Amino acid sequence: MASSDTERQRQSDRSALMAALAWQVAAGADEAIGETPVDRFVRGQTTAATSVQPAVSPTAPRTGFDEPGRDSSPGSAPDMPAPVAVAPAPPAADAHRIAGAVATLAELRAALAAFEGCALKQTATNLVFGDGSPASGLMLVGEAPGADEDRQGLPFVGVSGQLLDRMLAAIGRDRGSAYITNILPWRPPGNRQPTPAEIALCLPFIQRHIELVAPKVLVLVGGTSAKTLLGRNEGIMRMRGRWFEYVSPALPRPVPALATFHPAYLLRAPAQKREAWRDFLSLKRKIESGMPD
Ligand code: URA
Repeated sequence: MASSDTERQRQSDRSALMAALAWQVAAGADEAIGETPVDRFVRGQTTAATSVQPAVSPTAPRTGFDEPGRDSSPGSAPDMPAPVAVAPAPPAADAHRIAGAVATLAELRAALAAFEGCALKQTATNLVFGDGSPASGLMLVGEAPGADEDRQGLPFVGVSGQLLDRMLAAIGRDRGSAYITNILPWRPPGNRQPTPAEIALCLPFIQRHIELVAPKVLVLVGGTSAKTLLGRNEGIMRMRGRWFEYVSPALPRPVPALATFHPAYLLRAPAQKREAWRDFLSLKRKIESGMPD
């Protein structure tokens, strides 16, 4: 082959490789989770590199968290070799025990930073614990960090966070007068939706988080947050705008909890902002009517 042909071939191979890489990133596989590539087309192949696979394909994107009609069922490919669990995650009982043993927010943060039971930690860049003023009386709980939050280690700092900030500003609040966290403290790779197993594993931590903050009012931002913390099966369309009670034996009294749309959903469905505005006015009234001491 003449050298110009070889060069052309090399360029074409390179373009094909770059296109394949771009396709994977676009599909959400944007995190390297093993040293060696795994050829999943080879039947029965298993290597240690498969030990930290997330529970669902990272290609199921978290396109807007809990918007109506979103298919959250974990995908599975029929011919994939079963992942080998080299280091089995500790049972949820461990999370319960650890979360139950902490007495302050600083201890909870340290316990989460040391917790190795959730595979999401392996692909996340940072623990996203919380932001704002825990003493403000107002606590908002979202779903899980996205890419910006993962990079900065703070909740709701990306575009949906900016919208949330504007919604708070509309009722005279900001991060100095509200406290914000998420159900999950680590970003699901590729922004995919958290699995029920990941949510269940992290539940004791967010429950303890709420107990330690002891807010006067809770805002459940999006369906995942509302369903998880209220233990209800209804979709966010039915729950939003309604006040519920968040009950915990470690809290002196039930906390009024408002379910509302996730700002990521509002960015894609701006017509629903009107409903979200109603929710925030209801929140403002609740705060002004005097939050219980
Ligand atoms: N969406 C969430 O639910 N939480 C964040 O922190 C960012 C986006």
